[in-house]
Amino acid sequence: MMQDSRSIVVLTGAGISAESGIATFRGPGGLWEGHRVEDVCTPEALAHDPELVHRFYDARRAALARVEPNAAHHALARLDAEWGGDLLIVTQNVDDLHERAGAKRLLHMHGELQSALCAACGAHMRWLGAMPPGSACPACGAAALRPDIVFFGEMPYAMDTIERALGTADLFVSIGTSGAVYPAAGFVQGARHAGARTLELNLERSAGSAFFHETRLGAAGSLVPHWVDAMLAG
Ligand code: APR
Repeated sequence: MMQDSRSIVVLTGAGISAESGIATFRGPGGLWEGHRVEDVCTPEALAHDPELVHRFYDARRAALARVEPNAAHHALARLDAEWGGDLLIVTQNVDDLHERAGAKRLLHMHGELQSALCAACGAHMRWLGAMPPGSACPACGAAALRPDIVFFGEMPYAMDTIERALGTADLFVSIGTSGAVYPAAGFVQGARHAGARTLELNLERSAGSAFFHETRLGAAGSLVPHWVDAMLAG
């Protein structure tokens, strides 16, 4: 049945980057300077303690230089290059490992570390170094640049495109996500309701496992290449 799927939506989360050395949010190492990420990644934290929030994202942005895509990112890039049907890779991750592996049909629904957003004019721009609080926007001049990250309580990016793709998907595959954060956690139910087969690839059972037709447990670095090989062979 998998081999008949022409239109695929893949959702990825922190688990796909774990084997590259980026800590997941809710596992061991999920705390940062003693703070829960839920307490740092909010508009309120940015307003009340911009130094803390910028330090958090500066450290994560700098850490990208020390990591590489793993076998799971490379396998998805191969699927992207070779799959003749529709494909949309939706990532909750703000790292750039999917694109460094070569993925093209990719959306960052929670923003990107290597991007800045102007809170005054809404401009987005590529940003590679540290971002001191109050940095000036090159587009409008306001001292209002912030990390281009979707904080808790903010609307994820590209939801129209994602909802459309979920509505016509034959296969929905979720990789390395705990199913704790909506709206992404609800994609499986949306896709299934619209008629897609649903497959979860995760290290352990997640909050959403019950909603999938099938769950395969293991490390993304081995499960994903195996699944992609089967898709492309079919
Ligand atoms: N292979 C596959 N899955 C793994 C691996 C691995 N090597 N290592 C860990 N996992 C699984 C964990 O078991 C867990 O279920 O990946 C999942 C990671 O879950 P979270 O840390 O909650 O990450 P994620 O689901 O991406 O978080 C969603 O929360 O903080 C916000 O905006 C942030 O995008 C993030 C969102």
